[in-house]
Amino acid sequence: MQETDLGAVAAIEAATQITPWSLTLFRDCLESGYLCQVLRHQHASNEKQVVAFQVISSVLDECHLMNIAVAPAFQGKGLGRAMLVEALAQARQRGASVIFLEVRSSNLHAQALYSSLGFKQYDVRHHYYRSPKGREDACLMQYLF
Ligand SMILES: CC(C)(COP(=O)(O)OP(=O)(O)OC[C@H]1O[C@@H](n2cnc3c(N)ncnc32)[C@H](O)[C@@H]1OP(=O)(O)O)[C@@H](O)C(=O)NCCC(=O)NCCS
Repeated sequence: MQETDLGAVAAIEAATQITPWSLTLFRDCLESGYLCQVLRHQHASNEKQVVAFQVISSVLDECHLMNIAVAPAFQGKGLGRAMLVEALAQARQRGASVIFLEVRSSNLHAQALYSSLGFKQYDVRHHYYRSPKGREDACLMQYLF
């Protein structure tokens, strides 16, 4: 992810998340040295479009998947899985021992993806997220290397 990608990243975020991060927050992550990655789709015209992103922080041997999203028109095609497989491989290479994440309890698609990759739920944080109906629990998941 580069500074010039931030508009496209924030647009994907706004289209996919209930309480989206601001562009400024993505910029802060980029400037703080978090692992910020995008996937680009190359159109027949050769024009490249950012269609997915992920943001991962790491401290010593612990990583945290802070955010991941795929543009609505590109979901369900394996891109989310491909990005996470790559993130796991990179983290393993850097000597990580664990990757943590939080996911809304209603977000069954994302949970299915994480479980199929080997993430396990280890706790629940009650009323963690704002939601249209009030508050919603977070499932806390971890992937142990
Ligand atoms: C969650 C998300 C990143 C997954 O990316 P994706 O590219 O759509 O997912 P993939 O095509 O790689 O699918 C991976 C798995 O997710 C699950 N999944 C994805 N879409 C699904 C759907 N429509 N119905 C059921 N399961 C689905 C399946 O387990 C799927 O496994 P499969 O490959 O065996 O079919 C994407 O849907 C997204 O951006 N959602 C909105 C933002 C979000 O929820 N981010 C996560 C916050 S914690």
